[in-house]
Amino acid sequence: MEKSEIKKKTGIEVVNALIKDGMKIGLGTGSTMLHAIRWIKERIKQGDFTNTLFVPTSLQTELECYNSDIPFRSLTDPEIDGRLDLTIDGADEIDPGWNLIKGGGGALVVEKITGSCSSHYAIIADHLKLVNYLGETFPIPVEVFPFALIPVSKALESLGARYTVRMAEKIAGPVITKQGNILLDVSFKESFSPGEMEKTINAIPGVVDNGIFTLKVTDLFIGYPNGKVEHLSK
Ligand code: A5P
Repeated sequence: MEKSEIKKKTGIEVVNALIKDGMKIGLGTGSTMLHAIRWIKERIKQGDFTNTLFVPTSLQTELECYNSDIPFRSLTDPEIDGRLDLTIDGADEIDPGWNLIKGGGGALVVEKITGSCSSHYAIIADHLKLVNYLGETFPIPVEVFPFALIPVSKALESLGARYTVRMAEKIAGPVITKQGNILLDVSFKESFSPGEMEKTINAIPGVVDNGIFTLKVTDLFIGYPNGKVEHLSK
């Protein structure tokens, strides 16, 4: 099965298994999530989810909702009131303890806030995202307030990190996040404790947040090339 087919199947599976009408749902970012959103559109067309409220985590997700006629809200909407029943999101890496690296799509700040506001947090990914330790295949995205770029870079170097500034592809210069910040993609030679590293990086003045996610994942949906989607829950 092609990678995009695996992602599609995983996106369909999570919607069918976890979304119940009346819920408040956070919608993550990335190509796997786009498949989930397209399936939500189909379910709405079939008459489902008429009282379900959705909160997108990025402009990509917002536009997909808009194009799919899925009405969406903000966390500050009084009906949402800063609480969600479930957030569904993709990931860049998943370790055996279900710690994550996220932020490949540059939406890590809103994704972490949304996940933290949710009673249930479901991650959808293909099997290639499963790693033995975080940082094995993917750098840690770190969102930085632009004024602090140089001191943050130096502080990361003093922790033993190497980094690149994430550059835009169709505009000259760095990627600017929805919050107006810069992204560093950071790697370490040695493996690290996810919980400690998440806190250490966030303690550097000027760091807005980083892509190590140690918040509790309650459901994992992993797609495999044979078409199987494994659903694990905690
Ligand atoms: C967005 O910032 C990321 O956290 C995504 O959730 C992650 O990159 C997964 O994307 P794909 O589903 O496209 O692999």
